Amino acid sequence: MRAGEAYPVEVGCGLDVGALAAAALEVGDCALLTDSTVGPLYAGRVRRSLRAAGWRVLETVEVPAGEGSKSLAVYGEVLRRLARAGLMRDGALFALGGGVVGDLGGFVAASYMRGISLVMLPTTLLAMVDSSVGGKTGLDLPEGKNLVGAFLQPRLVAADLGFLESLPRRELSMGLAEVVKMGLLAGGRLFGALQRLAEALAGDAGALEELVLLSVSFKAGVVAEDERERGRRAILNYGHTVGHGLEAASGYGLAHGEAVAAGMVAEALLSRRVFGTDLVGLHERLLREAGLPVRVRGLEAAEVLGAMRRDKKRRGGEHRFVLLREVGRPVWGVEVGEEEALSAVEAVLEAA
Ligand SMILES: NC(=O)c1ccc[n+]([C@@H]2O[C@H](COP(=O)([O-])OP(=O)(O)OC[C@H]3O[C@@H](n4cnc5c(N)ncnc54)[C@H](O)[C@@H]3O)[C@@H](O)[C@H]2O)c1
Repeated sequence: MRAGEAYPVEVGCGLDVGALAAAALEVGDCALLTDSTVGPLYAGRVRRSLRAAGWRVLETVEVPAGEGSKSLAVYGEVLRRLARAGLMRDGALFALGGGVVGDLGGFVAASYMRGISLVMLPTTLLAMVDSSVGGKTGLDLPEGKNLVGAFLQPRLVAADLGFLESLPRRELSMGLAEVVKMGLLAGGRLFGALQRLAEALAGDAGALEELVLLSVSFKAGVVAEDERERGRRAILNYGHTVGHGLEAASGYGLAHGEAVAAGMVAEALLSRRVFGTDLVGLHERLLREAGLPVRVRGLEAAEVLGAMRRDKKRRGGEHRFVLLREVGRPVWGVEVGEEEALSAVEAVLEAA
């Protein structure tokens, strides 16, 4: 599959990463970036495949697993390791890991020597269906998440479904939150494939392959039309306006996928108010099948609204949402008043 015309996205089991990369870009020097969970499991295998295809792996940089590695300090350390290893402008960086390694590696590749080639080797479901495709890279600041970044399209994305065998079930659910979102936005075959959510959560390879392939091609299609998020790409934020508010109000104690799940339910409620289509029950059923909560405990609606007001994507006085006119028919930039937004948020909150 190709994302736009720009780069191949390969999905399969037991992919030969070295050979795929040799077909997508010129073989030469490279470095591998991974984290402390994924590295011990898979870095050796990836290095062997790269070397067999003629790549010279100058360095493997292993950062601590977790969001904390999307920091200026870790970013600086990775750049220095690449410089000490002698990686040059014509080198490539292979990012082997979840969204954290992808976002960090992407920003390293965008900035090291003013830009080197990037290959994404996603190892979480979220990274396979979402973060590895689309060209957004980023770091967090103490002042907020993803405040630093650049757009850089990878030269290749190779999603080996075999990596998912070691992924904890909860992390599978986090990826499935985005799959549910894309199914509702896309309609058609991807929406139909959501009937395999429970199988996918149980680790069924066929269900996972179908959902990853359809999700990634949907995301790639949306992004290809609007790489810089000036228009339609905004639909991918479905569930994320309330979701980000919930996440921030919880002090990031709430997992992103869980926040987005409850956020989608709140935004389905708003969709019902604005368009009269009732998709709330459908949302709740799909999210439960994906192992996700549809309500959040212990937060105050006013705090969530406050966090939504501070969100960097908000413009003007009103809250703007992506809403669903029906399955497969999203509308973006819908303005909603404070009172309506508040009641939708209240509806997904439960007392602690
Ligand atoms: N760039 C984008 O467009 C985009 C989109 C969505 C999310 N993101 C970013 O992605 C990040 C979240 O990504 P994530 O959920 O993949 O988190 P993550 O990278 O932290 O991975 C989650 C956990 O799973 C572990 N792990 C990864 N692969 C594994 C495997 N195969 N087996 C066992 N354990 C494994 C990791 O070490 C980590 O502990 C956030 O920083 C978010 O901002 C970026």
